Amino acid sequence: MLEHGGRLRRAAHHYRIPLADWLDLSTGINPCAYPLPSIPEAAWQRLPEEDDGLERAAAAYYGSAELLPVAGSQAAIQALPALIPGARVSLLAPSYAEHAHAWRLRQPRLYAAHTLEAAIDSSDVVVLVHPNNPTGVRFERDQLLDWHARLAQRGGWLIIDEAFIDSDPPAGSASLAAVAGRPGLVVLRSLGKFFGLAGARVGFVLAPAPLRLQLADLLGPWTVSGPARHVAQTALADRAWQQAARQRLAADSQRLAQVLQAAGLGTPSGPALFQSLDHAQAEALHDALARHGILTRLFAADAHGPARLRFGLPPDENGWLRLQRALDSLPEALLSNPISAPLLP
Ligand SMILES: Cc1ncc(COP(=O)(O)O)c(C=O)c1O
Repeated sequence: MLEHGGRLRRAAHHYRIPLADWLDLSTGINPCAYPLPSIPEAAWQRLPEEDDGLERAAAAYYGSAELLPVAGSQAAIQALPALIPGARVSLLAPSYAEHAHAWRLRQPRLYAAHTLEAAIDSSDVVVLVHPNNPTGVRFERDQLLDWHARLAQRGGWLIIDEAFIDSDPPAGSASLAAVAGRPGLVVLRSLGKFFGLAGARVGFVLAPAPLRLQLADLLGPWTVSGPARHVAQTALADRAWQQAARQRLAADSQRLAQVLQAAGLGTPSGPALFQSLDHAQAEALHDALARHGILTRLFAADAHGPARLRFGLPPDENGWLRLQRALDSLPEALLSNPISAPLLP
């Protein structure tokens, strides 16, 4: 199993700080989640059925009916390599590590965002995360469409993981969800991030019908539970909540970037739901903040990038205050941020 954010119990044990006293900034999950509707008893008691309205609500939200609900986009990330052929697999790096893990048997080549263009014509499958986690890198819509066309005309595939795109207008306008159904294109979406419903385990695969059928067959019946389907349907249809959440997240993300910058930590980058900071002393910073009961996500330096720290959004004013106080108390020696190394291909 790979390392993920959100492992609060482990941090509580390690730092001997009670679970309830932590400020968890280690994920990119919206801390102000969609408020749960009451769930009809039948959703618990009956087997889930496809015509309950979830697919319709999702089609209206994503702008395409070429979709399959899955138990979190993670379920699709793991299943796709079994269904998509091609020996030459290229992945964006650094990125959400589960993609490289899922494709590991095909020994994928890893490309930094600015070198990915060079991989397109020599690849059968290209996988990227847009906007990227943890770097926040975005791509142009025309470029993505061009990459897809070049891959598809040779029978290749472009897989775009749009888990963080819902609350990121610049990337959102480059989403390929609405053109899903074209041969050779897969778009993955998640209800875990923007809607803050990570525990419900609901995501969508937008892809051509033959691939969706194969995927549905592989994953089996009733993969998304009745209660999760009900909550997801309600959240996807609630435009007023979505609009308010987008505004709030945009303001909070700007505030987070300012707080980190004002603390002397350099210039962070990221979509609305998190800010990432390349920092030579990321590990020491992570540890210093954890001693204040603030959990961030640490990414060690590797061949694809420098060490970095990812900060999610505080849920409330108390959280902002705690973060500010912890940053104010960091020793000067931890604040210098000499990273200037370019990403390696
Ligand atoms: C980029 C990215 N894609 C997909 C996932 C999986 O999300 P879920 O399975 O909750 O939809 C994550 C989770 O952290 C992620 O960061």
